[in-house]
Amino acid sequence: MMISRKAACTALGLAATLMLASCQGRRNVQEHLAPPFPGRLSAWRLFTGRPAELHPNAGVVPYDLNTPLFSDYADKFRFVWMPPGTFAAYRPDDVFDFPIGTILSKTFAFRTEPNGHERLIETRLLVHTRSGWVGLPYVWNRDQTEATLDVAADPVPVRFVDAADHEHSTNYIIPNSNQCKECHALHKVMGPLGPKARNLNKSFAYSTGSSNELVHWAAAGYLKGSPDPATAPRAAVWNDPSTGPLDSRARVYLDVNCGSCHRPGGAAATSALYLDLANNSDENLGVCKTPVAAGHASGNLLFDIVPGRPEESILVRRMESTAPKVMMPEIARTLPHEEGIELVSAWIASLQGACTAARP
Ligand code: HEC
Ligand code: HEC
Repeated sequence: MMISRKAACTALGLAATLMLASCQGRRNVQEHLAPPFPGRLSAWRLFTGRPAELHPNAGVVPYDLNTPLFSDYADKFRFVWMPPGTFAAYRPDDVFDFPIGTILSKTFAFRTEPNGHERLIETRLLVHTRSGWVGLPYVWNRDQTEATLDVAADPVPVRFVDAADHEHSTNYIIPNSNQCKECHALHKVMGPLGPKARNLNKSFAYSTGSSNELVHWAAAGYLKGSPDPATAPRAAVWNDPSTGPLDSRARVYLDVNCGSCHRPGGAAATSALYLDLANNSDENLGVCKTPVAAGHASGNLLFDIVPGRPEESILVRRMESTAPKVMMPEIARTLPHEEGIELVSAWIASLQGACTAARP
């Protein structure tokens, strides 16, 4: 229906009031293709109604991922918008090729009590401008009426309950605008990370009913060239054994949580530890691999991964840590991800083989 909307908009012009409303709907979002970018999130007009409810404006489509990035147990609300008449080109293994004007947004929120409200902390935008992708961190006020652009925000003390209703508290750290590129840049060029076929090949409960995300994006005119979901790649859900074996779940967890830096061309490329799914060398995966920079971060451990021995694997040690220069990811978390550590530990415990003693 919406695929040919731009054509329909142009042809009908002012004649069809209903159609006009829907054309203006997708146009209602405010594009900013070059600096200066708005100081207030509301200026983008991505949402309507009460700001804290994140009620999407026309053409703003919510999505989520099979396996997400862990960020201190924050709940995340993701949305995509593209200018009228434009669409992303499907790619089987990579992030889709998004048109200029695309706005991807991700809002981080915490549940302050069981069954309680979400407190919004920050909304991150990735905007495809004429000169490439730009990352913009907006921080919500205490009243939850507005979020303002803050390129170097202070930490926010939060108390919250996770999905299992366990209580946590932390001094939540909002990455500054320079840190976006540590994860989001490939060969120093900024880009999105999440919207890949395998991660979007899942069902989502839209306000109009449940549908596969790839199908929904295509129907909304946002995606061209997408195959039937049955033949498109599909990533396992890291914590749902019905979606894939231990190996697949651990590998996709590492892909999303580590692979943005730990891939050729990523911020951690010099370590030659490649945790992205495309890597199929055991050595680059860390198996019996001695770390490039030994010392404090490795403790007394010799190898990134010792098959069968998570407790002797530097990889697990660094996931458990919250100490600067030791912890991994090195930014954008303050708490260890207990369930993620369990998954990766179980996977390492399942690996066969032995490492020969490190060279002196
Ligand atoms: C520790 C690595 C890391 C840092 C730092 C980081 N991001 Fe991301 N970001 C990710 C990953 C991985 C995803 C995809 C997975 C997900 O959404 O759970 C993502 C997703 C996003 C998305 C949704 C679209 C997409 O690319 O999937 C936006 C918007 C975003 N980030 C903006 C930002 C901005 C702005 C900053 C800096 C203020 C930032 N991010 C810092 C890793 C990071
Ligand atoms: C924001 C970028 C970033 C992310 C995300 C990230 N790392 Fe790293 N990692 C680095 C950098 C940079 C180094 C090299 C410097 C060092 O060892 O501290 C490194 C080094 C390492 C090393 C030592 C590797 C070697 O052989 O020298 C291990 C192990 C490691 N990371 C594990 C992980 C794991 C596991 C994750 C995900 C849970 C992760 N990292 C996510 C940036 C990152």
